[in-house]
Amino acid sequence: MRTKTIAGNWKMNKDFLQTEELIDELKKALSFDLKGVKVIICPPFTSLELAHRLIHGSAIELGAQNMHHEDEGAFTGEVSPTMLKAVGCKYVILGHSERRQYFHESDAFINKKVKKAIAAGLTSIVCFGETLDQREKNITAQVVTAQVRGVLEDIAAENVERLILAYEPVWAIGTGRNATPQQAEEVHVLVRKLLGEMYTASTAERVIIQYGGSVKPENAAELLWQPNVDGALVGGACLKADSFAGIIKAAAR
Ligand code: PGA
Repeated sequence: MRTKTIAGNWKMNKDFLQTEELIDELKKALSFDLKGVKVIICPPFTSLELAHRLIHGSAIELGAQNMHHEDEGAFTGEVSPTMLKAVGCKYVILGHSERRQYFHESDAFINKKVKKAIAAGLTSIVCFGETLDQREKNITAQVVTAQVRGVLEDIAAENVERLILAYEPVWAIGTGRNATPQQAEEVHVLVRKLLGEMYTASTAERVIIQYGGSVKPENAAELLWQPNVDGALVGGACLKADSFAGIIKAAAR
């Protein structure tokens, strides 16, 4: 059984004070039975340490939105896996489409980070997904296949089983236009088949594959209860405690 996993990607939102407010509200909003649903928040770097203190004793776990693939050194502006671990992170989002688009991250570069996260004992939430242009050209399967192969290159099955993959069609991110449950399920099935080819059927069965892109309380249940959709990576809707809790509630049904 794959654990339903809901992660909130705060992106570049919420300063120190706003972090405190949102986590306080979220803890109150999560007073229902989570039924084993895993809840992760990924605030900006500057809020991680505070968030770690505030979620102590709650069911909420902590992740970062990016990291460098070295432990330390002359990499101005970067943050290392050991630094993330030291402030209580268990997870790190890697290869988000905004990092690919604005910071030119390639599959090979993301692959380096995924390997480093494994070595450091962090669970990566590894993102992939096609653009609108690619979907309209009917090359979604090829694009997604190349991305998944690229980011997982030379990673052993036992490590892949502990990763989280996140299918995030670029056209659905922040647009209010989510993939239909059928479109999401179709790609998740494709990725699970691919994992079966790259590794084994049992590895493929174990990997958590989240869907991301305009997930909100209103559409969460039908997306989250597709057989191969194991959770959600949530952007906009995670910035309000009630809507993030609404999505978690849909997963805890
Ligand atoms: P969105 O973002 O929920 O605002 O579409 C999802 C993401 O980018 O992870």
